[in-house]
Amino acid sequence: MVRRIGLLTGGGDCSGLNAAIRAVVRRAEKDNVSVYGFRNGWKGVLEQETEVLDLMATRGLLHRGGTSLGTSRVSPYFEPDGVQGVIDAMEVHRLDGLIVIGGEGTLSASLRLHRDEGIPIVGIPKTIDNDVSETDLSIGFLTAVQVASEAADRLHSTAESHDRVMVLEVMGRHAGWIATYAGIAGGADAILIPEVPFDIDGVARHLRHRAGTGRDFSVVVVAEGAEPVPGTLELPESPIDEFGRPRLGGIGHTIAHALEERTGFDARVTILGHVQRGGGPSPVDRIIASQMGVAAVEAALDGAWGTMAAVQRFQAVRVSLEDATRELKRVPESLYRVGEVFFG
Ligand code: F6P
Repeated sequence: MVRRIGLLTGGGDCSGLNAAIRAVVRRAEKDNVSVYGFRNGWKGVLEQETEVLDLMATRGLLHRGGTSLGTSRVSPYFEPDGVQGVIDAMEVHRLDGLIVIGGEGTLSASLRLHRDEGIPIVGIPKTIDNDVSETDLSIGFLTAVQVASEAADRLHSTAESHDRVMVLEVMGRHAGWIATYAGIAGGADAILIPEVPFDIDGVARHLRHRAGTGRDFSVVVVAEGAEPVPGTLELPESPIDEFGRPRLGGIGHTIAHALEERTGFDARVTILGHVQRGGGPSPVDRIIASQMGVAAVEAALDGAWGTMAAVQRFQAVRVSLEDATRELKRVPESLYRVGEVFFG
């Protein structure tokens, strides 16, 4: 019988996390299950920093950006005695299981804790990068697409006024979902993503061709993790962050400079950065967060540990954490080809 569950949000924040927290608490209350929220992801589990989440605590959360629980990139697998720390926290708070809202890193740690230590965990996918497998959408992605599409629209009009090349850099470390979606929605003239190494000379040729047919401006959308065909363009080394990951951001400058050199066109760069992660969630993010929050509690009530609440074809479904984290979900070639049709 499930009576007490722990809840945490881990990894980078995004819009829609609060909607998911609210959904978990509201659904749990219906079965008299208490929810203990851990502060700041796994950090709060290891430091046993909790708060009881009830109806009052989740009032007004639906439309609020960020996560009311706080988050961090701390992983029990990189902290001394981290795994034992999770086991201890579960015992101290007499928790029957955990609901973990996270991206690839947080969900992979959840899988290991479940598979290797037997800790009862259900996952919920969130990441603006949308690269968690087995779910059509992750919480936060569509809000980020909305922000990036609006930026592309706005850049279009100023690009046209000045006959400029506008380079719009969006997030997307290993997968170019935001760039592809915002690029298609925003009518981009080139989309550069990690899945398809780009040839900068080819991009320059394309922009010159556009100018030759009377279109003297262009919008180029680039994912921060895009990579050139080896040997075609030198990218500056990214600094390494405190968790050992390259701190991305800035490829837009290299691309704009290279395009100016090759075409003689005036280029400008916009790096959207964390604007894509902040602010209130789009309606669909609110809905999928609600669907997945409810589904995660129902999975816990059914004892379906080691699963992740996902959304497929607009329906909430239960998938295995193992399948969801086996490999990153990358942009399929067929979708990228749709964007290419409009490069024109
Ligand atoms: O959470 C994914 C992500 O948004 C990536 O696209 C980006 O590279 C990274 O987070 C940046 O994270 P932070 O600035 O919080 O370390």
